[in-house]
Amino acid sequence: MEPADILERIDELKRRKNAVILAHNYQIPEVQDAADFVGDSLELSRKAAGLDAGVIIFCGVHFMAETAAILAPGKSVLLPEVEAGCPMADMINGRELRAWKARHPGLKVVCYVNTSAEVKAESDICCTSSNAIAVVNSLGVEEALFVPDKNLAAWVARETGKKLIAWDGYCYVHHRFTPRDIQDARALHPGAEVWVHPECPLDVIDLADKVLSTGKMILEARRTACAEVVIGTEKGIIYRLAKENPAVKFYPARETAVCAHMKMTTLPKVLRALETDTYRVEVPPDIADRARGAIQAMLRIS
Ligand code: 13P
Ligand code: SF4
Repeated sequence: MEPADILERIDELKRRKNAVILAHNYQIPEVQDAADFVGDSLELSRKAAGLDAGVIIFCGVHFMAETAAILAPGKSVLLPEVEAGCPMADMINGRELRAWKARHPGLKVVCYVNTSAEVKAESDICCTSSNAIAVVNSLGVEEALFVPDKNLAAWVARETGKKLIAWDGYCYVHHRFTPRDIQDARALHPGAEVWVHPECPLDVIDLADKVLSTGKMILEARRTACAEVVIGTEKGIIYRLAKENPAVKFYPARETAVCAHMKMTTLPKVLRALETDTYRVEVPPDIADRARGAIQAMLRIS
């Protein structure tokens, strides 16, 4: 089928099934263009919670669709590619977190949104890269456990002055950025600002001008006075940045910063999801109720 025919069929099925397409900022251009709403993890969670659609096609990775399913019970949340998981979210499971908590009695647990529902269910509060500092400050404690991203934890600990005991997890895309990437990008684009995602290691963050979630990069790009910006996150966001801000030039800090899992979703798979109602993401009600508590605690403060 030609892309135009696929899009036409997607539109027709969306209307018939009262479906909405949500896409993360790292999705491939065709999928972003076909989406009703493109955003970061926090924006997509909020959107899912507020929609009155019957079906949500979630173009992202599994934990995002799970978060949508938790916040929108009764709606059918479909992940177009069943293999699209997040390797960082898979670095800790509920059993491991329970054992870790037992070794640190009395400490609150902050979980990054990049976690399974089971891990969220074992946590006191969730956070995203947009609100992690505010979430940690809201706890009113000097020490807490943080799962699973050790890089995000290190940055948040430094920014808040709190002690965060971090799980040994990381995002393989952001963890690979090195100070050398930033130095080389600055040499190549001497007039550019450098924006990096807080999933990058601290020695990379230290060389950046701004540390921003993907959603905050989109907002910052709309008001920046810079003509050139080097972007230290998954490369897919550059499509949206460039499309919305044609007067600004955006360069990837690392050409190979690509999340293979985010690229698994394609337009034919979006169509297949609508045609066959697959792959439905469901969370057992007892886990969903507890996980929702951690997510709502976050939404109340951000
Ligand atoms: P944000 O879009 O919330 O910045 O998260 C980035 C990410 O790695 C999602 O998988
Ligand atoms: Fe997970 Fe990193 Fe891919 Fe985001 S970019 S889905 S954190 S592996």
